[in-house]
Amino acid sequence: MMAGGSVSECREYLFKVLVIGELGVGKTSLIKRYVHQLFSQHYRATIGVDFALKVIHWDSKTLVRLQLWDIAGQERFGNMTRVYYKEAVGAFVVFDVTRGSTFEAVSKWKHDLDSKVKLANGSPIPAVLLANKCDQKQDSTSNNSSLMETFCKETGFLGWFETSAKDNINVDEAARFLVENILANDQGLPYEESNGDKVKLDQEAVAAESKSQCC
Ligand code: GTP
Ligand code: MG
Repeated sequence: MMAGGSVSECREYLFKVLVIGELGVGKTSLIKRYVHQLFSQHYRATIGVDFALKVIHWDSKTLVRLQLWDIAGQERFGNMTRVYYKEAVGAFVVFDVTRGSTFEAVSKWKHDLDSKVKLANGSPIPAVLLANKCDQKQDSTSNNSSLMETFCKETGFLGWFETSAKDNINVDEAARFLVENILANDQGLPYEESNGDKVKLDQEAVAAESKSQCC
């Protein structure tokens, strides 16, 4: 039910987004680039989980806050991921194009993700694959874009991007693509506005739509 003229037209969303993948693939670096426009060659492994917030002025009526959960590569072998994944509405799975073993681990990360978190309507959360360090010499698989397309379809990724946290390639584009898909699912909780009226969505009504897509 819309309450009429007093309801603000501006919508604010808070989305929890996971960044996962093997050790040293560049998860922290991608987040630093995206949020702070910084890059460092220095490697300091993430312990457990780190957080970053990116505020996006999506359009004149929509503000999106992305809460990025930077999960340590070594966590796949721990048992905290279920806790970390809770209530996430989107994910990036990252691999390093110079190390084939990190690409081989992608399907394990995706499987772990899908088994531990789902949207309210039961479908997998939107996930985008990032082939990072594309400023460097690549191993073979990620060089073949039709193979990558097939891999994405089979593994349930919405799509993939070649990225470089170092040279700032495709970082914003990949984030925009994921947010578009999250917004399409409309699973984010409306962020409470500080200046008065609050918009409450009838979530069941929203979730009932767009269920027809499969695969
Ligand atoms: P964990 O926290 O251990 O899981 O690793 P991580 O995935 O967060 O990797 P991190 O961002 O710490 O990067 C690991 C190393 O790769 C660092 O030395 C970075 O400088 C380097 N690196 C990250 N992204 C890029 C990139 O796009 N290009 C190049 N050339 N190096 C990168
Ligand atoms: Mg890290």
